[in-house]
Amino acid sequence: MSVDFLQTSFEEIIELRARVLRPGRPVETAFFKEDHQPSTSHLAACCEGRVVSCVSLVRSPWKEEPAWRLRGMATDEKYQRQGIGTGLLQKLEELALNSPGPDLVWCTSRVEVIPFYEKQGWQVASDLFQVAGVGPHRMMTKHLNTDLHGLANTD
Ligand SMILES: CC(C)(COP(=O)(O)OP(=O)(O)OC[C@H]1O[C@@H](n2cnc3c(N)ncnc32)[C@H](O)[C@@H]1OP(=O)(O)O)[C@@H](O)C(=O)NCCC(=O)NCCS
Repeated sequence: MSVDFLQTSFEEIIELRARVLRPGRPVETAFFKEDHQPSTSHLAACCEGRVVSCVSLVRSPWKEEPAWRLRGMATDEKYQRQGIGTGLLQKLEELALNSPGPDLVWCTSRVEVIPFYEKQGWQVASDLFQVAGVGPHRMMTKHLNTDLHGLANTD
């Protein structure tokens, strides 16, 4: 199965994001306030001509320090557990690493998918808390490698 990972538009990813993360609810419930900010990037994994996984990278402070935030990570149910989400997460980290600015990425993770992020080196950074209408979450963070950032810009 061939999978392409690319930066794309909000319009390309919103249907999948809403279907996976807000099932049975109006698409507007999946909109984020940062979706149209110039510093925001939307990424997609495409397979057989369809967007099958999506995620967004936004600028959002962590403990009042500049940081990146991962939002809206979702893989189409039929394509889950095939490594596609991991591939897209790696693309998001590369993008953050190669963009000027902070070297910390954070997210709020549903408790059941914490292992997905942990496998890529993310760490739990908060106690459990409830997100209304969604369920229990924990904050997670990952420090991107600033040495690699320097190297990436020298060639
Ligand atoms: C979480 C999600 C994006 C992962 O996408 P994916 O394409 O299935 O991810 P991968 O196939 O790359 O998973 C890699 C590993 O992460 C872990 N993982 C992935 N999904 C998991 C889940 N639902 N529960 C527990 N571990 C999970 C597993 O260790 C998996 O490896 P394995 O399949 O060999 O066991 C996808 O399951 C999803 O969209 N879930 C519903 C929405 C959601 O919870 N989004 C995250 C909001 S914070």
